[in-house]
Formats: sequence, C-alpha cells, structure tokens
Amino acid sequence: MAGHIPEEKVDEIRRSTDIVEVIGNYVDLKKQGRNHFGLCPFHGENTPSFSVSQDKQIFHCFGCGKGGNVYTFLMEIEGFSFIQALKQLAEQTGIDLPDQLSEEAPSEKSQESQAMLEAHQWLTKLYHHLLKNSKDGREAYQYLIDRGFTDETIQKYQIGYSPDSKDFVVTFLEKKGYHPQTMVKAGLLSTNDYGEYADRFRGRVIFPLRNHLGKTVAFAGRSLGQQEPKYLNSPETELFHKGRLLYNFDLARSAIRKEKTVILFEGFGDVISADQADIHHTVGTMGTSLSSMQANLLKKYAEQIIICYDGDRAGIEAAVKAAKLLKSVGCQTYVARVPDELDPDEFIQKYGGDRFKREIIDTSDTYISFMMNYLRRDYNLQVEGDRITYIEKVLQEIAGLDRAVEREHYLNEIATEFQLSVETLKEEVQRIRSQSGVKDKETKNRYTNDTRQPTVQKKLLPAFHNAERKLIAYMLRDPYIADKVQEEIGGAFNIEDHQVIVTHLYAYYEDGNESDISQFVEMIEDASIKNLAIELAMAPVSEEVSDQEIHDYITRIRSEQWDRTDIRNLESELKKAEQQNEPIRAAEIAMEIIKRKKELKHH
Ligand code: UTP
Ligand code: MN
Repeated sequence: MAGHIPEEKVDEIRRSTDIVEVIGNYVDLKKQGRNHFGLCPFHGENTPSFSVSQDKQIFHCFGCGKGGNVYTFLMEIEGFSFIQALKQLAEQTGIDLPDQLSEEAPSEKSQESQAMLEAHQWLTKLYHHLLKNSKDGREAYQYLIDRGFTDETIQKYQIGYSPDSKDFVVTFLEKKGYHPQTMVKAGLLSTNDYGEYADRFRGRVIFPLRNHLGKTVAFAGRSLGQQEPKYLNSPETELFHKGRLLYNFDLARSAIRKEKTVILFEGFGDVISADQADIHHTVGTMGTSLSSMQANLLKKYAEQIIICYDGDRAGIEAAVKAAKLLKSVGCQTYVARVPDELDPDEFIQKYGGDRFKREIIDTSDTYISFMMNYLRRDYNLQVEGDRITYIEKVLQEIAGLDRAVEREHYLNEIATEFQLSVETLKEEVQRIRSQSGVKDKETKNRYTNDTRQPTVQKKLLPAFHNAERKLIAYMLRDPYIADKVQEEIGGAFNIEDHQVIVTHLYAYYEDGNESDISQFVEMIEDASIKNLAIELAMAPVSEEVSDQEIHDYITRIRSEQWDRTDIRNLESELKKAEQQNEPIRAAEIAMEIIKRKKELKHH
C-alpha cells in the first residue's frame, strides 16, 4: 500500500458506494429476501451460492467461501491493489483522494472530468442562490410557486435560475479557474464561430440532474414562457448519459427498497410533484425511452415497477415500450392509467397525492391487462379478421408470462369473452412457448424456487462451536451484545480464529465505531479470518435476541473453557505423577483425561 490512507476517506468512499450496484456490473444478481444472489464469479457453479447483502454491504460465497466488502470484491475480480480499488470507486463517487496517495499522477482526462464535476456543483449552488436572492430570479421563483412548488421542494431539489445574460456564468466559471473549453465539453457553456462563450441555460429555470450518488452531472433548463424548446438539457458528456441516469434515484433508493416498488415517470416534474405529495419511491427518465441498463438497475432494487407515463398517445406508446423492456428483464410490471388530458404532475396538483395513490397507482393494470387494452385499440373486434389477429397478439403476450396460473387466468378471460375453448387456447400458448424456446419455470427460475442451502454442506459442529459462531454473529450486529460478552468472558473463546475476531471487534467498538461489518473487516489483515467474519455476519440470525439466549451461549462457551482448563490441569497432574513415579495414580489420571476428552467431543 502506498503511503498512509486516511481511514475517513476509505470509509467515506465505501459509504458512498452501493456494493449491489458495483457487483451487479459483474454478476447477474437476483433479490431474494434480504439478500441478492447470483452465480459466483470466483468459482464455476450452476446454482447460485454467491450472495450480496445490501444492508451489510458485504458479499459472501457459500460455495467457495470468498467474501468481503466492495474493496475486496474489486481487488479479487479486477486484480486491483487496494489503492487501485479505492481510486476506481473514488472516481465513480466523485470523492477526492489526497494527491500523495496516488501511485501515479492523475491522468489529464480524470483531471478534466473532475473539473467538470466540480463546476456542476458550483453552478448548482449559484443558480439556486440566484433564484432565491436575485432580482432577476424573482419571475422564475414566482413561476415555480405558481406551479405549486413549495420552498422546501425548491430547496431540496436545488432548483435554480440562470440569469438572462451571456457572460454572467462565463465570468463566474472563469474566476473559479475553469477553462471555458472544458466547460463547453461539460455542456455548461456554448460557443460560436467567433470563439465567444455563453451560458447554455441563460434565462431558464434550472433543474439540476443528479447522478445516483447525488452529484449534479447535468442540468435541465425550462423556459419561463412558451419559448421553445420547452426544456433544454445538457448534452451527453463524460459525466452525463441520459440512458444511464435515472432522475432522483439517489434520493429514492431507500424508499424503493422499503416499498419494494418503484414508480417510473417520464418527466422529472412528475417526480418532484410526487415527492412533494409524500410519495418518495419514484424515479424519472429524462423524456427519453427507458434503457435496458436502467431497467436492470430498477429490477435490482424493486420487486414491482409501476410505469406512470402521460395519458396521451405518445405516453402510451412509450409505456408499451418500457413495459415490454421491463417484462423482458424479468420485472413484475404494472402500468398506471393517467386520465388523458393530464400528466401525473398535473393530476397531483389538481387532486392531491392521496387520490393519485388511490386512483392511479393502486389501480394500475398488470402488464397483460394493459397490453390487452392497448392492442384492443388497434382492432375492431366486431370484425372477424381483426378479432383473430387481436387474439393471436394477446396469446403471444400471455405466452410470455412466467407463471402458469397467471397464463391460465387470462386464457379463461379470453375464452369467456370470445367464446373459445380454453383447451385450444392453452395448446396455442404452449405451441408459442416451445417455439420461442421459453423454458418452463422449474428450469428457468432457479433463483426463486430453491431453498437456499449452502452448497458446501457444513460439517456438524459441536455445540460450543456453534454457540461461538452465533454469539459472534450477534456481536457483529449489536455493540451492546459485544459489550456484555466482553464483560463476561472477554476474549476467552475456544476457537482461535474466533478469539482473533472478537479481539478486533472489541477494539473496533471501543474506537466509537458503529456496527458495520463492511467497515469492520477493513481492520482484519488475515484473509481467512476476514472471510470467516463475513461468513458469520451473513449467517441468518433472528431480528430480536433474548438476554437468555445470549446468556446460554456464554454459558456453553464457558463450560467448554472449564472443561478444557480441567483437562489441562489434569494433564499437568499426570506429568507430576509420572515424575514422582506413581504409576497407578498416573494411570487413573490418564483414564480421567480420556473420559473428559470424550465428553468434550460430544458437546
Ligand atoms: P413533457 O412535455 O411531458 O414535460 O415532457 P413536463 O414534464 O410535463 O413539463 P412541464 O410540466 O410542461 O414543465 C416530459 C419530459 O421530456 C423531457 C423533459 O425531461 C420532460 O420532463 N423534455 C420535454 C425535454 O427534454 N425537452 C422538451 O422540449 C420537452
Ligand atoms: Mn407537465
């Protein structure tokens, strides 16, 4: 390791990163219960035993035993040094590393993107300040208030205003030391043939577009009047890729996880409006169609995805595309129906968040009923030819459903409506399925069916050993339990590796650290002990543990200690007896030792 790395930096970067996202770039992860599972990238396997915990920010493979935090993962998979892993994540999170840390001077490219990133943060503050405090910003501020934005929202989303002046921002950026050419690259300034620079967003209300780590990487500027274009967005830059960024993902992440659901909007105005109405698990695309990267990201966080686009023709067409994509990556997809003449933002403004939830979100269509309604619009079902084409299209969709009960349900619906036999429809669906090579659930959804068992059958461990493992699992989770154990037995665990772990753990908590396995393992040098700590942290333990249970574990460990101490004492007595030439007594002691050792094994 080069030089001394400030611990706070290591922690800061780790905390700004989500291990599920990082590992998700390498492994196809599926959420199951609290954890994500996938095929281990470190050893060949056909059933996933590689698990990642979002809460704990660690990974562990039940198959090969590898485990660690996000740094360990990058080091293993990329062959990085610790510094390299740190640098890679620092860059992604936009966190500065002290220069002396770097193994080599930062490349010009990364210096430039650093400048671009910084400039965005400066301008976010400047635009917001100007909206709130400048004379020029007054009209824009009034516009926002008239549209129903509260001060709190304006603050939270750092909405701003760019004065209608060509050089105000240009001068500001120059004074901050940014090269105008770099700022053009960043999409902040525009330039003409004469080499003059101007603020790209001048005269517009500014919505900062934050990346998934909460840093502004682009802006959207809304014109105040009818002036076109209505929205002027940053161009694609090194920092900003429309197809990757989901608006509000940084703020919505935890709510999405909590609700296990995400609402997907077309515009960020809808997102902000929903947030103001206390609906927080929402993200938006920037008026472009959903990309598969975005779809995959959402799938990792949410079990259900509700598409809530505008109710007009364009919105419905976009919803069809998004719904198909989401379905194809395996999301449970719903589509909300927004009344034709309103967009979600307007609906919320007009009728409030409660009605929006009740009437739009809670009544959203399943994928298939949405598709059925959608297809219906194109055909005149009174005409036989149309009717048949329609039914064929619907059967195509039904064939794509994973669950047999679901398929059956819709087939019954069609059968009743068009007076057809369910059997015929079933056969047709089966034919489509085998043609398109859809495998049946049993083989396809291996993630959802199997009960998670470590692939390596854990040897049956003696009771004291299990007690130690359980206890450490609780201690890793709860400093109070660790404290209690420390008081009662200190480091007197019977298994040596366990002693090492608890010793580190006591020190860790004494330093005032909170329970955080991902941070804790940074303290442990030995890889096998590190892995063991991770394994113990991943072990499922009940949410609530009684004092009695903890007490029982401690008693188990203690009595094992005593037994061991007894044996050691007997062994030294045996030696003495032999030295003093007392063969009978020696033999007696030896017998006792054997007996005790046997007992020990049976614990
Ligand atoms: P909409 O036209 O539905 O905008 O476009 P909106 O969100 O309802 O905007 P308001 O309420 O009139 O202010 C949906 C999204 O498409 C993008 C924006 O991201 C917008 O939120 N868009 C739209 C553009 O990028 N440029 C445009 O000119 C129009
Ligand atoms: Mn609107």
